[in-house]
Amino acid sequence: MEPKKILVAGGAGFIGSHLCDYLIGQGHGVVCIDNLSTGRKENIQHLLKHRNFKFIEMDVVHLHRPGVNFSKFWGGRVDEIYHLASPASPPQYQKNPIGTWQANTIGTVNLLELARRHRAKFLLASTSEVYGDPLVHPQTETYWGNVNPVGIRSCYDESKRAGETVCMDYHRTYGMIVKIVRIFNTYGPRMDKNDGRVVSNFITQALMKRPLTVYGRGKQTRSFQYIADLIIGLVKMMASSKSFIGPVNLGNPKEFTIKELALKVLELTGSKSKIVYKPLPPDDPQQRRPDIALAEKTLHWRPQVSLHTGLKRTIEYFKITLL
Ligand SMILES: NC(=O)c1ccc[n+]([C@@H]2O[C@H](COP(=O)([O-])OP(=O)(O)OC[C@H]3O[C@@H](n4cnc5c(N)ncnc54)[C@H](O)[C@@H]3O)[C@@H](O)[C@H]2O)c1
Repeated sequence: MEPKKILVAGGAGFIGSHLCDYLIGQGHGVVCIDNLSTGRKENIQHLLKHRNFKFIEMDVVHLHRPGVNFSKFWGGRVDEIYHLASPASPPQYQKNPIGTWQANTIGTVNLLELARRHRAKFLLASTSEVYGDPLVHPQTETYWGNVNPVGIRSCYDESKRAGETVCMDYHRTYGMIVKIVRIFNTYGPRMDKNDGRVVSNFITQALMKRPLTVYGRGKQTRSFQYIADLIIGLVKMMASSKSFIGPVNLGNPKEFTIKELALKVLELTGSKSKIVYKPLPPDDPQQRRPDIALAEKTLHWRPQVSLHTGLKRTIEYFKITLL
């Protein structure tokens, strides 16, 4: 396979850094751009000296500011662009709602323009949040969603939906090869312990011997995908036939209640922490499970890592970073 020149926007984040690792491991050249708003340089520290890797601290919203010449970083060539540059957890994206909205709309347009100029393939990391609080279960890609356009989650949900729209418009207008992936809840090493996602919250609380916070009665369900499975899915999607645009769901269809997750974390950490219950935040979806039939059929992809194995690996990582 010929090495490619690949841009990963948001490459210093949780998912992006694993993607950079994988692509570098396959012999490709990677330029990672990131404004480090929710990502961390530690996530890519081990790559910084690699001859095929380049990091540029930059905001995708201001990609075309005067004086920035991207071509010099890859000798005038880019083959593929992955757009992952957006905060992903509710506390993070609600901290800067306008910035979140900009990253997924203006940032997407900026990166699509770059892809158009270089005739590069473009992949958008969209989200299961485009389904909102779904009235259809499990969610198939043909379901248009049930999203509140003016709520506190809308800066993320609606801007991801707009990002999908503009990808389709670039595809229809310019015949560009675009790929839309709807990522469901993903966890694993390098999640930020402070970003408020349920898996990292529970593990941190259990290891620090603090009570585990469950919102509502803990009966709401989620499906949890281990990071290694997602990375394979993203790469397969980018490599898929040019007529396959998606959107395609990538997630683990096995569904757990939040209470079951809390109990599993307590079991695997051996923690004696208690569970405390707090009121549900607004617009918190009651259930979420991907229908992955399309990914199975088109990408021959299916998650391989069980919650038990994935949680054990993630707990090991948190033990090293926390204790
Ligand atoms: N983790 C999940 O479960 C999940 C689920 C659905 C979708 N996604 C999507 O996957 C992508 C990556 O998520 P993640 O979990 O790795 O989150 P993350 O916060 O760890 O990574 C996002 C990265 O993008 C960077 N970034 C944010 N805004 C930027 C901007 N304007 N310009 C440049 N860089 C910017 C951050 O600094 C960070 O490094 C996001 O687009 C997110 O919406 C993630």
